[in-house]
Amino acid sequence: MLDKLQAIAREAEQLLGQAGDLQTLEELRVRFLGKKGVLTQVLRGMGGLSAEERPKVGKVANEVKARIAAALEARAAALKESHRAARLAAETIDITLPATALEAGTIHPLSSTRKEIEDIFLGLGFSIVEGPEVELDYYNFEALNFPKDHPARDMQDTFVISEELLLRTHTSPVQVRTFERTAPEVPVKIIAPGRVYRRDDDATHSPMFHQVEGFLVDTNVTLSNLKAVLGTFVRKMFSPGTGMRFRPSFFPFTEPSAEVDISCVNCGGGGCRVCSYTGWLEILGAGMIHPRVLEVSGYDSEKVTGFAFGMGIERVAMLKYGVNDLRLFFDNDLRFLRQF
Ligand code: PHE
Repeated sequence: MLDKLQAIAREAEQLLGQAGDLQTLEELRVRFLGKKGVLTQVLRGMGGLSAEERPKVGKVANEVKARIAAALEARAAALKESHRAARLAAETIDITLPATALEAGTIHPLSSTRKEIEDIFLGLGFSIVEGPEVELDYYNFEALNFPKDHPARDMQDTFVISEELLLRTHTSPVQVRTFERTAPEVPVKIIAPGRVYRRDDDATHSPMFHQVEGFLVDTNVTLSNLKAVLGTFVRKMFSPGTGMRFRPSFFPFTEPSAEVDISCVNCGGGGCRVCSYTGWLEILGAGMIHPRVLEVSGYDSEKVTGFAFGMGIERVAMLKYGVNDLRLFFDNDLRFLRQF
């Protein structure tokens, strides 16, 4: 029996030494050390041995088992090492290749324009407030003095969700939402940036665009305060020499109302293609808040007055950066965006 064990050890060592891959090694492990393996079978015969012989054979059997296990392990390590060496020899790494560049993004021009507008008004003591994009008809129209069926609603056709709900067509509803919280306290100095929606789509209009609303309510607020604030704004936003003019206009929620123009950023007012040879560019709508808007929101229009304005961020960005098609802001073409 001892001879048999020694023979098994030798055979196993020989075969293991020749094994060329890990799969063969595994097969050999099963064959010699497995539950139904050669060694197990030999040990089964131990029952027939004398009490003297049994411990001796048991000891040798354990030694043989350990020898085979060690040989298995050594062969496995050797095989792994030679595989690794072969792989490294086959692999050529060009350490002079440039690394993959990490591309840093840039702030979107509409975001930086919005931020710039916000910073100017924060500097003038205004606070920032936001309102919902899905808005009640009440705030978007009714409370702003657009009764149902009023023709002024036609200029702001939008995406209607239900009788009472729509995508807001402007940021002006934030005026009423704010006044409901602040009335009868004054002063109120707010700007409200955000997305708005209209049924419009061409080179200068998009169904979704951005506005910044601004409004100030206090005792004794007049049109000259509006002109002073907007004049300061356009000179900071564009250039210190920027001219500004008010043209009479109509909004149901302001009285009087005006369209505000700035002197052409391209030609300075002499007339060019950008300003259609008028010397002026329209940048926003504004006016004195209509007494009715103040009243529905809880203010006494005999005691306080206010002004409001609303500008399109895309429009300001187009003028500032000389972009001639508004849709470029939403195409996400990197060749365009990388210029900012
Ligand atoms: N909400 C108006 C618009 O979108 C702009 C505006 C705001 C006009 C505030 C007057 C006062 O056209």
